[in-house]
Amino acid sequence: MTLLDILPSLRSAMTPRLDPDLWPVTTHVDELGRITVGGVALCDVADQFGTPTYLLDERDVRYRCRVYRDTFPEAEIAYAGKALLTRAVAAWIADEGLSLDVCSAGELAIALSAGVDPRRIILHGNVKTSADLTAARSARVGRIVVDSPTEITMLSASSAPRQNVLVRVTPGVDAGTHRAVTTGIDDQKFGFPLAHDQAVDAIRRILGQPRLNLIGLHCHLGSQIVDTECYGVALDRLIATMAQVRLDHGTILTQLNLGGGHGVSYRAGDPALDPSALAETIEDVLDDACARHRFPRPRIVLEPGRAITARAGVTVYRVVSVKQVRGGRTFVCVDGGMSDNPRVALYGARYTVALANRHSTAPTTPVTVAGRYCESGDEIAVDTSLPGDVRPGDVLAVPVTGAYHHSLASTYNAVGRPPVVAAAAGAVRELVRRETIADLLGRDVGR
Ligand SMILES: Cc1ncc(COP(=O)(O)O)c(C=O)c1O
Repeated sequence: MTLLDILPSLRSAMTPRLDPDLWPVTTHVDELGRITVGGVALCDVADQFGTPTYLLDERDVRYRCRVYRDTFPEAEIAYAGKALLTRAVAAWIADEGLSLDVCSAGELAIALSAGVDPRRIILHGNVKTSADLTAARSARVGRIVVDSPTEITMLSASSAPRQNVLVRVTPGVDAGTHRAVTTGIDDQKFGFPLAHDQAVDAIRRILGQPRLNLIGLHCHLGSQIVDTECYGVALDRLIATMAQVRLDHGTILTQLNLGGGHGVSYRAGDPALDPSALAETIEDVLDDACARHRFPRPRIVLEPGRAITARAGVTVYRVVSVKQVRGGRTFVCVDGGMSDNPRVALYGARYTVALANRHSTAPTTPVTVAGRYCESGDEIAVDTSLPGDVRPGDVLAVPVTGAYHHSLASTYNAVGRPPVVAAAAGAVRELVRRETIADLLGRDVGR
């Protein structure tokens, strides 16, 4: 008989609590059993900034940027700001040598106010309003990715200087991702399908516009892609199209933007996209397709969003109540939920939750971590487990919440959005403050 048989609670005490694939690179558990990120205890963050709070590990963001630059030394890496954009994040990624994708005048304003070089900004979006286009052109952004026939008309009519553009095409590749984020197939709202010559027609129109300088093609296949093969198929089709453009118009397009969509794990064991496997696929397909079409290798541009910032983020909540339904589940209810993390309701996303303020030796028990909002679907983690002694006042942490959380947050139930804070080298600082009731009332101007 071992000690573990005599004291079964030791088993849960000994299981490693934090999976390095999910938690930011600087995560530790201190001698008091508290989870720390960037040298700061998450329960101290909860005390200082309130809950919920989005915490970012600056070192993790910078580390992911470097992994991409090292893995794709010849490519341009443009961070997709829609995943998470604050002035500090924009400055970090620019500092690490990445370019930046924006998809609205608002994202552009954040980037510019952080000092990002406009020449390194790419404007995206299937609906770019005239305000978006005007802001982008007056800032002299480096590239605009054209997404609709109307946009060609709007851009051509402008009196601004000649603009470098790419055409977004849909290469007819189904990356097998959630329907809401599948964008490489023909029958959806983004881009011009390669099928039925729609992309070729758009290219012809743009080439006929003296104010537009077509430099390349763009595609984005979807999000949470883990298999690199679909990128290879798309790349092959785009090189063939570029070769056709040269044949038809004598124009050599020099950039090929393969979009983002690189998947990350949200729970232990989830598959993730391996950037070096992607680099290998791109190299092989480029070699082969460019040789086959005798086409000069274009500059590859990649646009990872989630893969840069998702794992740097941890959301910190406080437990408000624990409710056991007789014959049903145990609900651990926290002070946040679907307005700070809509991904569960949107995509059926699943998360891991950890007790962050103390080390418990109580055996773990299955629980549903539920939010505060007025919908029964407001659940943060459905089939997770926590120590059986979890109680009101405890601090819970949810990893992999750096991307598409702050940027997707709402004010449902008139609850202000959480702050974003950054931890580095034992210090924590506020990047975006909490939205207050005064902020909400300030917008409500009618009587
Ligand atoms: C054009 C474009 N590029 C890049 C991305 C980033 O995707 P992800 O965050 O999944 O890498 C998106 C996401 O929607 C996108 O639309």
